[in-house]
Amino acid sequence: MRKNIVAGNWKMNTTLAEGVGLAKDVNEALKGIDAKCDVVICVPFTHLASVAGVIDSKLGLGAENCADHLKGAYTGEVSAPMVASTGAKYVILGHSERRQYYGETSEILKTKVNLALEENLTPIFCIGEVLEERENGTFLDVVTKQIEEALFDLSAEDFGKLILAYEPVWAIGTGKTATADQAEEMHAHIRSVIAGKYGKEVADNCSILYGGSCKPSNAKELFEKPDVDGGLIGGAALDCASFMGIVTAF
Ligand code: 13P
Repeated sequence: MRKNIVAGNWKMNTTLAEGVGLAKDVNEALKGIDAKCDVVICVPFTHLASVAGVIDSKLGLGAENCADHLKGAYTGEVSAPMVASTGAKYVILGHSERRQYYGETSEILKTKVNLALEENLTPIFCIGEVLEERENGTFLDVVTKQIEEALFDLSAEDFGKLILAYEPVWAIGTGKTATADQAEEMHAHIRSVIAGKYGKEVADNCSILYGGSCKPSNAKELFEKPDVDGGLIGGAALDCASFMGIVTAF
């Protein structure tokens, strides 16, 4: 059966010293509890190797992106093999900030997913509609298309290695969370789209996380929904106490 997962996405925050400190704090806090979910932190590239050196196997580590090429003359890019060589096991792909600010298309994301899977990295693949699409009622179709375009060339076996994260763009960093019912409606829809392509077993085994202004005060209500299998946490992951408040919502 699918796993419950709480993953932090630190985005472009923390210096190396601050990030290593935060990772150590989360690692210590996790030792003291019997977490009912997998816990992952996704950190800036510059922090990966150092953070890998200070955390235990109980805490998963991921990158926030990887390149759409394997190696070569791509100045400033970081490849999936480079990410994997740090000890990271996860990589966030398709975050709306990458799509919006860096022009990442479904074609590019398809390549990134394949390169990540070749390195045995687990992609945390993000999907979600913008406010206009929520308001004009096309949000279910928009998310269906994002999944179909970037992921439906995968074999069932490879699709089964993914974690999905539904992040309504209008809820990211805005303090405006989707209601638990809005999240459940979309998560159930996503699961039915997966079932339509790969069958019920693959769909039932896929962890679908919610992201967008998730915090200790609303996590429990969201995680109680049958198709919400955890969270991808931005701002609240930058503070150990609030991140742990979300982890313990399970
Ligand atoms: P916030 O939790 O800051 O809204 O960010 C969500 C997010 O984008 C996680 O990837």
